[in-house]
Amino acid sequence: MNKQYCIISFPETDYQPIILEKHQQISEHLTIENSPVLFGCRTGICGTCLVMIAGDIPPPSEEEKEILDIFASTNKQARLACQIELTSDIEIRHCGEQK
Ligand code: FES
Repeated sequence: MNKQYCIISFPETDYQPIILEKHQQISEHLTIENSPVLFGCRTGICGTCLVMIAGDIPPPSEEEKEILDIFASTNKQARLACQIELTSDIEIRHCGEQK
């Protein structure tokens, strides 16, 4: 049976892991109270939600790649948290490369 839930964890922080159903938008569930991730536009334009993600998720879309090139061109783990498709357990770390 397919696993229907994914665990989002925040290593090296005091935030507790969050469990969400697969394919949910994490930007709709992460808040300033339950995660270290900050969001701005939530549409993949501003780069506020830039993070490093470890986990087996689909690669970025062309639109997301364009923004990643601007904010984190050398960091292959960098992603926009508001744009990722949740398909497996992931670890979210702060991305220190934001300009
Ligand atoms: S919140 Fe603006 S790019 Fe994700």
